[in-house]
Amino acid sequence: MLDPFTRVINVASGDIAPDSRLVQRRLSDMKGAYAADCDGAEMVYEVFNIDVAQTNSELQTCTTRLYNGRVGNEYYMTKGHFHEVRDRSEVYLTTSGHGRLVMATEDGRYVVEEMRPGSMNYIPGGWAHRSVNVGDEPLVFFAAYIGDAGHDYGTIEDWGFPVLVVEGASGPEVVPNPRYRRT
Ligand SMILES: [Fe+2]
Repeated sequence: MLDPFTRVINVASGDIAPDSRLVQRRLSDMKGAYAADCDGAEMVYEVFNIDVAQTNSELQTCTTRLYNGRVGNEYYMTKGHFHEVRDRSEVYLTTSGHGRLVMATEDGRYVVEEMRPGSMNYIPGGWAHRSVNVGDEPLVFFAAYIGDAGHDYGTIEDWGFPVLVVEGASGPEVVPNPRYRRT
């Protein structure tokens, strides 16, 4: 049995004290995610994980700091994933910045929700999810998900999402993804 514990989250930066496991994604890790080519060491996002047993009796928690920037007209975003165990759900709580949460089912339905400080987004089982930073500062959010969910990145790498969030003339726009399932 796990002992209770407490961590302190910096809601502006996403940093977790006293310890967490850091995962970093740079432009070079995002090849293929954007219509335009991308490469290089520039950081796109960082995830601070609080690891517990990967069972359905525990909750995995983490914070994500998604930087602001663009590749072509596409905003910086996370890779996005389905859960390996498809029916596992997740909640996000945004603590800083401004974004969009793109969610999609395997049969092509999609929903795009706003992320801003105080937003709680509920991601039901079966919905792939990707966050997109549409603001001019880092987007920071806390996530909790069922411990045995796992991450299936490959399906999204192959298919993409049905829609993209791009910078339009008067701000963020949701447009059809011309590359959806065309790999
Ligand atoms: Fe997830």
